[in-house]
Amino acid sequence: MKSFHIITFGCQMNEHDSERMTGILEERGCLSTSDAAQADMIIFNTCSIREKAEQKFYSELGRLKDLKIAHPGLKIAVAGCIAQQEGSQILSRAPYVDLIFGPSDIGRLSNLVDRNQARTAPLVDITGDPGYHHKQIPATRVDKLKAWVSIMYGCDNFCTYCVVPYLRGRERSRCPGDIVAEVRGLAEKGFKEVTLLGQNVNSYGKGLEERTDFPGLLKLLNDVHGIERIRFMTSHPRDLSDRLIAALRDLPKVCEALHLPVQSGSDAVLSSMNRRYTRDGYLDRIKKLRTAVPDLALTTDIIVGFPGETQQDFEMTMQLLEEVRYDGIFAFKYSKRPGTAALTLTDHLSEDIKEKRLDRVLTLQKEISRQINKEQIGTVKEILLDGISKKGGKLAGRTRGNKTVNVEAPASLIGSLARVTITSAGLSSLTGQLCE
Ligand code: SAH
Ligand code: SF4
Ligand code: F3S
Repeated sequence: MKSFHIITFGCQMNEHDSERMTGILEERGCLSTSDAAQADMIIFNTCSIREKAEQKFYSELGRLKDLKIAHPGLKIAVAGCIAQQEGSQILSRAPYVDLIFGPSDIGRLSNLVDRNQARTAPLVDITGDPGYHHKQIPATRVDKLKAWVSIMYGCDNFCTYCVVPYLRGRERSRCPGDIVAEVRGLAEKGFKEVTLLGQNVNSYGKGLEERTDFPGLLKLLNDVHGIERIRFMTSHPRDLSDRLIAALRDLPKVCEALHLPVQSGSDAVLSSMNRRYTRDGYLDRIKKLRTAVPDLALTTDIIVGFPGETQQDFEMTMQLLEEVRYDGIFAFKYSKRPGTAALTLTDHLSEDIKEKRLDRVLTLQKEISRQINKEQIGTVKEILLDGISKKGGKLAGRTRGNKTVNVEAPASLIGSLARVTITSAGLSSLTGQLCE
């Protein structure tokens, strides 16, 4: 195999897993190509979080059938969460797939490719590598300034709607020493920002020999010379400790931005989701956070139409959005996922109700986000200039709160921090002027 093409679906973890697969394949001399038709191997890195993600993958996979007929030597691989979920069943829908492996098998990718080349029958290996979290895996990162760094894998929370614990396995943390070494290496290469990745970063450190919790890890990384900004996701509200709030307040490189998925504003729904916090408990955390870090940018995830969600439950979510005033949200219609506990609940809601509720949530949030952005006008922000603006002509950067700011500045400033005065604000980005 000489060249490969990776198609990625799903979350940041998958995006970063694709960077790792690229790193591993490049290390064995293969070239990444952006043109699928030129590749010797096409890898789908798949997501199963909602039914839609799964449908999207199968329709893309179906489109490759003709390419495979035209190039019989082409190998097609399926990686990621659907690979883990479906295993060899993928072959009954798409017999032309050659290789299937799961998220914890990535460290063995080179070996899998060799084994697959040596045979004509499809190879399915989703057994997972129990030592994966201790492996140093090369990564070819898409960005040159901002890097994703996995600090843990898996999830033990078993929220009743979610497939992730079944597909990514139990929580496993990487050793702090390995993470610090990786971040030092990134700083040496010129990276300025790291985003620490895990399904539930707040419970980082469970089972480690060296006793380090998440705030402790942040402190170690705050000392890495050359890194200017540290972000992380995702935090589970239940594990948001006072120590973490203090770290957000005290560590200068840890950005004032937090993604804290609430999912619902109703205690009945939260309990049925097995989230293990209440609305009041969540709001109390927010209050503490904002007292400690007044300019904290907050974002969240919302699921509407969870089984049994009454109109009143839903209104509680709407009220919560008005009360918290998030900078931004991701909102989803509840989607039935195989093997999850919520499947067995009665009172599944109609698509029509879910659609209407999603619409109301998004409309409300749009207005809130627009207002919050407007309130930024006239303030001075530190931005990390990281490239050209989407429309071109300007440079683009992010505030510490992770808002995009477009600004007139020379390209030589890309990669540096700049102070800007915000002059106007839209829904998805701000415009600014460089301070003298
Ligand atoms: N580990 C993270 C993110 C998990 S997936 C966390 O706990 O926050 C990202 C988001 O997808 C979740 O926060 C949830 O809002 C949404 N999600 C997960 N399963 C879903 C389902 N079955 N239907 C609809 N949305 C879902
Ligand atoms: Fe899924 Fe809940 Fe784990 Fe997040 S915390 S990955 S929503 S089970
Ligand atoms: Fe999707 Fe798997 Fe991420 S299901 S959201 S790719 S953990």
